[in-house]
Amino acid sequence: MHQPRVVLGVSGGIAAYKACELLRRFTESGHQVTVVPTAASLHFVGEATWAALSGRPAATETWERVHEVPHVRIGQQADLVVVAPATADLLAKAAHGLADDLLTNTLLTARCPVVFAPAMHTEMWEHPATQENVATLRRRGAIVLEPAVGRLTGVDTGKGRLPDPGAIFEACRLVLARGGLPLDLAGRHVVVSGGGTREPLDPVRFLGNISSGKQGYALAATAAARGARVTLLAANTELPDPAGVDVVKVSTALQLREAALAAAADADVVVMAAAVADFRPAEYAAVKIKKVEGAEPAPVALVRNPDILAELSAHRASAAQLVVGFAAETDHALEHGRAKLTRKGCDLLVVNEVGAGRAFGADTNEAVILGSDGSETVVPHGPKEALADILWDLVAQRLK
Ligand code: CTP
Repeated sequence: MHQPRVVLGVSGGIAAYKACELLRRFTESGHQVTVVPTAASLHFVGEATWAALSGRPAATETWERVHEVPHVRIGQQADLVVVAPATADLLAKAAHGLADDLLTNTLLTARCPVVFAPAMHTEMWEHPATQENVATLRRRGAIVLEPAVGRLTGVDTGKGRLPDPGAIFEACRLVLARGGLPLDLAGRHVVVSGGGTREPLDPVRFLGNISSGKQGYALAATAAARGARVTLLAANTELPDPAGVDVVKVSTALQLREAALAAAADADVVVMAAAVADFRPAEYAAVKIKKVEGAEPAPVALVRNPDILAELSAHRASAAQLVVGFAAETDHALEHGRAKLTRKGCDLLVVNEVGAGRAFGADTNEAVILGSDGSETVVPHGPKEALADILWDLVAQRLK
């Protein structure tokens, strides 16, 4: 069996220690990994660690083992290059095609997918120089993961953390699984909602649903692996953040609506995979509702929530923007689906039959994707990632 060849580039940031965990994930799942650290990164993690964990020598300069022409061969032979952490300096060098060490040479000779996992302080990430370098790399087809938000080196917090090694590994796995297919969502902004809204009744109770968010997360992760910048609107989910995706946490339908309208402003496509409550309690009790002995329970009055999908479809940020909905039906799925597609005014509607352990909370799904052009695409039973990829195929065709 072909052992995928991965080059793990490590540049000089404190998050270099987390790359050890990423390396282990690769080696333990049958990848052959060559680690190419920069000289600066060796201040954080030494050559011996990389050699021991990868079982191969780790070279930094182009002057080592010159007879093997490593500065060309390592990049040429790779199935994937991932740079984690990628510092602001490394991104600048890559964007400008500098090649003053083995890693930057490798980046110029690689013809396989390249994933950068940046990690730096928020100010450095937000600096126009870094943002322009990231845009350049993305335009050329590299995948630049969005840094995570959280505690940085020292006491400060913000955007700039290296995503969790497990999440970077998942992102790389999806990129490798595409087997070098083009990054057909590169340069696109994709917004996906997932999970289920909760409508509070009092401080301890809510009306909600059993959506796990797995389909929305699979859509977000697979879109990132196809090169998209992804915003995931996550409603009450317990899942780990997919690497490189901007995650916006929401809870109620009204919060989801606000976040969706804001994110959609510059989006190429919006996918509403979240299960949105159609109604919310008319009154929110600021203190816990008590039962009264001997009395009948008071009825709960409900009011309609806005239909976010219909609103997004009716007020698109641009004429070219695509809007995709989901429909969970327990019976007459296609009939209800067709009517729903027309009612909501979206371009595509993923219709799946739910109930009896199907779809909700499961890792697999099956569906029919209806198009406003009358098309019907059958998605056979399979992982939620497979459904996501079929949907992105349809989206990519329509975005062309
Ligand atoms: N949706 C939404 N806003 C709502 C309700 C639903 O944006 N207030 C979106 C969901 O995210 C999904 C699609 O609409 O993409 C379909 O949701 P569904 O609940 O099946 O549709 P409803 O209009 O509620 O139809 P019904 O309950 O009559 O089946």
